[in-house]
Amino acid sequence: MTHATLVQPQPYLIDNPNLQGGFAPVDREIVADRLEVIGEIPTDLNGLYVRNGPVPQHVRPGKYHWYDGDGMLHGVRFDRGRVVYRNRWVETEGLLGDRAQGENLWPGIKQKMPEGVLPDDAMKNTSNTDVKFHNGRLLSMWYRGGSVYQVDPETLATVGKLEQDPRLAALQGLQISAHSRVDERTGEYMFFAYGNRHPYMHYGVLAADGSLKTLIPVELPGPRLPHDMAITEHYSILHDFPLVNNPEALKAGRYSLDFHPEWRSRFAIVPRNGTADQIRWFDADPRYMLHVVNAWEETNARGETEVVMVGTPYSMPKQYDGSLDVKRLLFTIGTQGTDYELYMWRFNLATGRTHEGLVDDILNTEFPMINGLYQGRKNRFSYNVLMGRTRTVEQPRFAGMAKYDLERGSAVAFHPGEGFWFSEAPFAPADHAKAEDDGYVVGFVWNEQEARSEVWVTDARHFADGPVARIVLPQRVPHGFHSTWVRGELLAGGSKGAQA
Ligand SMILES: [Fe+2]
Repeated sequence: MTHATLVQPQPYLIDNPNLQGGFAPVDREIVADRLEVIGEIPTDLNGLYVRNGPVPQHVRPGKYHWYDGDGMLHGVRFDRGRVVYRNRWVETEGLLGDRAQGENLWPGIKQKMPEGVLPDDAMKNTSNTDVKFHNGRLLSMWYRGGSVYQVDPETLATVGKLEQDPRLAALQGLQISAHSRVDERTGEYMFFAYGNRHPYMHYGVLAADGSLKTLIPVELPGPRLPHDMAITEHYSILHDFPLVNNPEALKAGRYSLDFHPEWRSRFAIVPRNGTADQIRWFDADPRYMLHVVNAWEETNARGETEVVMVGTPYSMPKQYDGSLDVKRLLFTIGTQGTDYELYMWRFNLATGRTHEGLVDDILNTEFPMINGLYQGRKNRFSYNVLMGRTRTVEQPRFAGMAKYDLERGSAVAFHPGEGFWFSEAPFAPADHAKAEDDGYVVGFVWNEQEARSEVWVTDARHFADGPVARIVLPQRVPHGFHSTWVRGELLAGGSKGAQA
C-alpha cells in the first residue's frame, strides 16, 4: 500500500498572479538535448541565446513582485542544427545566504523594509535583469545596481563577482546597473552605476581584456532612476530623466515615484574614454524611457556631427486640456503599463541643440534588440516585443514581435494570437551573413494552450512568415527580462576580444 501526502499549497502562491501560469517559478536546473523540433533548425545558426529573469528559489510571505525573484539564466546553444537547453540560477551572495538558511531573508519591493535602512540598502542584488557577453564570460546584472556576476557561457555556472578581479578594485562599492553596452567590434564594455549618494552616477569602460580603462563621475542634481545608456563609435550617452523616488516615502522605507514635468530630460554625452570635464549636457522634453534601440553619429548637410539616439520611451498621456496626465503616466511606469512609442533624439555637437520627435506611436513595442555588430553604428532594423493591450495579470503580456525598418519608416508585426507569451528575442547573424538582417530572431515563447515553453527561430528577412523552427522544451521558462546572443566563434575559445 502506498501513502500519498497531500501538500497544502501556501496561500501566497495561490493569490499572487506573479507566481502563476507562465510566471510560476521552476525548481530544477536541467540540461536537455534531443528536443522535439517543429520545422527545421537552420544549420547556419551557431551560438548561444541566453536570457535572464526572476525565479524565486524561496518565496518570502507577503506581496511578491515579479522583479523580486532570484536571477536565473536560460541558455540555448545552437551548434550546426543541434540544440541544448540549460538553466541555472546566478549564485549571488544573497541567494547563497538564503540557501544556507532555507528561506528568503530579503524584503521585496512591495514589502516593508527593515527599520532605519534605506530600501536600496535593504534589498537583495538578485542579478535577475540583464546579461551580456564580454571577454569570454557572461555578465549578469541587476536593474537597481550592484555587483556584476560573471558566468561561464558553456555551463552557466557562476564564476564570481566582477570586482574580485584585482584590476577592477575601483569598482568596489559602485552600484553597477543593468544595461551596459558591448562594442562587438572593439570588444569594449561600457557601463554605468547609480545610487542615492553624490555624485549619483559613474560611467566606465572595460577594455577587451577585462581591465578598467575609464571610470569617471557623472554628477547629477540628485538621485535618479536611469535604466539604460547608449553608445556610438566615439561617444557614450547617459540618461537623467525627471523621474525620482519620492524622498519622503524613501525615508519611511517604501518606494513611490515622482515625475517632474517642470524639469527637462537631460543627456550626458562624453567621449568613450573621456574625462568628467569633457561631459556635455543636452536637454530635451520631459519623458521617461527604459530601453534604447541604438545610437550612432551622423554628419548633417551643414557638416555638423549629430549624435542620434532611438529608443522606446513611455508615451506621455495627455488630459483633455492638453496638459500631461502625470497620474496616468506614473501608473503606467509603476506597473509596467503597456503604452510605449518609438522615439528619436538628435544631439547636435556643433550647436548644443537637441531635435527630437516621434518615430512611431501606432505599434506598441518594447525590449528592442538589434544586430549586435551594429551597436553604436547606424542600423536599419530593430526587433521589438509587441506589447499586448489587454492585461490579464498584473504585468503586461508580450504578445508578439515586430521588425522595424528605420530607413523606410515601416514595420512588420507578427502576432500568433492569444495564448502565446514572448520574450526579448535577440538577433543572431547567420554564418557568413551578407546583410544587416541576414540571420534569425531567437526567443522563448510560453505556449499557454499546450502548457509548455518553446524556442522560436524566425528568419529575420521573412519576418511575417513566423518561425522556421519551434523547439519544444521539457521545462517551462518563466517569463523574464533581458537576453543576448553570443556568436559561435566567440564560444569556441578562439577570439575573446576584438572582432573584425
Ligand atoms: Fe531593462
